[in-house]
Formats: sequence, structure tokens, C-alpha cells
Amino acid sequence: MSSRIIDGKSTAEELRKRLTGAVAGLAERHGLRPGLAVVLVGDNPASRVYVRNKARQTAAAGMRSLEHRLDAATGEAELLALIAKLNGDPEVHGILVQLPLPPHINEAAVLNAIAPHKDADGFHPVNAGLLAGGGGDAVVPCTPLGCLMLIKNTVDDLAGMRAIIIGRSNIVGKPMAQLLLREHCTVTIAHSRTRDLPGECRRADIVVAAVGRPRLVGGGWIKPGAVVVDVGINRVDAGGGKPALVGDVDFAAASEVAAAITPVPGGVGPMTIACLLHNTVTLACRAHGIQSPL
Ligand SMILES: NC(=O)c1ccc[n+]([C@@H]2O[C@H](COP(=O)([O-])OP(=O)(O)OC[C@H]3O[C@@H](n4cnc5c(N)ncnc54)[C@H](OP(=O)(O)O)[C@@H]3O)[C@@H](O)[C@H]2O)c1
Repeated sequence: MSSRIIDGKSTAEELRKRLTGAVAGLAERHGLRPGLAVVLVGDNPASRVYVRNKARQTAAAGMRSLEHRLDAATGEAELLALIAKLNGDPEVHGILVQLPLPPHINEAAVLNAIAPHKDADGFHPVNAGLLAGGGGDAVVPCTPLGCLMLIKNTVDDLAGMRAIIIGRSNIVGKPMAQLLLREHCTVTIAHSRTRDLPGECRRADIVVAAVGRPRLVGGGWIKPGAVVVDVGINRVDAGGGKPALVGDVDFAAASEVAAAITPVPGGVGPMTIACLLHNTVTLACRAHGIQSPL
């Protein structure tokens, strides 16, 4: 059996096209231009690439992109003061602070300082609480939101399906579990202390791997016909010192068994930024009491 490849790249492209149309409509009908402020502290090379891509895609969709690049030595108080300013700026509808922050800054204090109604990443405890309460008003973290969109494009009716999420982080695993619960799946959250992880996995109709361990999930872990979503991004040596990106799933082996599977790269990754733009448009509409066109 060979799996259907879930093409995150083209799904993200379609979503961005839809967002661009929606943004143009908001400008025309309401004179509203959604604005996203991205804050980067320090010069982590991966973070710089992410921030550049976010800014580029925000502008390409016709939205206002505001970048704040701060020196690695910036103090917590200075960063909190910037967030307070952005919270009060009516042209800013979404705020994102790129993680990780330098070790001298308390990440939780910074994320908690972002106004929940401008929390484009959905990491604020108010939004996590709304999501846990099943509320439709929660800002949903971008990566799990993108995973859900890919799953819903693949499966007609999720109700009653068994789903396993491997990983319990606040930014991926836990919100993913809440989203699948909201879709009436029977959800298992697995982690590093889970007993018989391959056995737990083999019972699942939907597997979401968000672990950060290259090719942890083998082909023998997958129930025939399952849908597999691989969130992992792991840099490995492809031989001869050449780097390669691989997921948390052994793609070659799992694609022999699964009904559908996301590749790495080209699966979940491209959906994350598209969902960030999606969240920002939603927040801009809410701020102005406009029905979201999305
Ligand atoms: N595509 C994207 O846009 C995107 C976005 C975010 C993250 N990612 C990638 O997704 C992966 C996960 O990210 P994250 O931020 O959620 O990571 P994280 O905070 O490090 O969490 C990893 C989770 O995996 C669990 N785990 C670790 N080793 C395990 C093992 N051997 N068996 C079972 N569970 C294990 C950990 O369990 P414990 O809780 O017990 O320690 C933890 O819950 C990373 O590769 C990251 O780069 C991709």
C-alpha cells in the first residue's frame, strides 16, 4: 500500500491566496488593513529566517508587517515596554514574539504580557484556557491549527476516530489534543513516559507526531489506513556532512502502511505561517467588530 501525500505546501498556498483576497476585501469595504508585529530578540539564525519569512508573507498578503529586531542584550523590562506599546497601538492587530528568547528573559512573563486579543500565536493562558473550555473564540496556536486543516482536508468525518498525539508541549501537543477533542475524536496524548508507545500508536486512526526525535515513529507503529501528520523538524546528517531535514516519522516505512501522510519538508511547516496570517486577519476583524471573511 502506498499513501496519499498530504501536500501542505499547496494547501498553504491556497490558504494564502484566500487570505490575500480577504485582506483586499477588508481594505475596500472597511478601510481596514490587518497589522502583524513580529518581535525578534537576538540573532539566532533559525529565528532570523522564520521572522524574515513571516514578514515577507504578511506583506505579500497585503497586510501591514511591523518588525522589531532587538539586540541580544535587551533587558526584560525593555521588551515588556515594547509589548505594552504594541498592545496600545491600534494599527497592530497581532503580536508575535519569536521564541526562543535569550536565557536572561523570562519567556512566560513576556508571552503573558501580550494582550490576549492581540495574541497571534495563541500562547497566552487566556487563549489556552478558552481552547481547553472548547470555546470558539480562542486564538488557536498556528501549528496545531494548520495540522487540523490538513487532517480535515483528508478525513470527511473525524467524529469517533481514535487519535494519538505524541508530544505534550503547550505550543503543539496540548492544543492539538484540544482541537481533535473538539472534533469528537477519542484522544490519547503520549509523551516520553508513555508505556508501549508503538502499541498505543498502532490503535490510532490519526497519528500526530510532535516530538523532535528524527524518525522515531516506525512503519510498524502505524495502523494500516491511518492518517499520519508529522510536525517534527529535525536536522540530520544526510551523509558526507550534508544536512537534511527529516520528521519524527520514518516517512518511507510509514507511507507503506498509512492511508495518507505529510512529508517533511512540505507538510505541516508551510501551514504554520499561513495560519499566523489567518489568526491576524481574524483578530483584526474582531477588533473592528467585523464578521471575518475567512
Ligand atoms: N512544523 C512546524 O511549524 C513546527 C512548529 C513547532 C514545532 N515543530 C517541531 O515539532 C517538534 C516538537 O516541537 P515541540 O515544541 O512540541 O517540542 P517539545 O516542547 O520539545 O516537546 C516534545 C514532546 O515530545 C515528547 N517526547 C520526547 N521524546 C520522546 C520519546 N522518545 N517518546 C515519546 N515522547 C517523547 C516530550 O515528552 P515529555 O513531555 O515527557 O518530555 C514532549 O512532550 C520539534 O521537532 C519541532 O521542531 C514544528
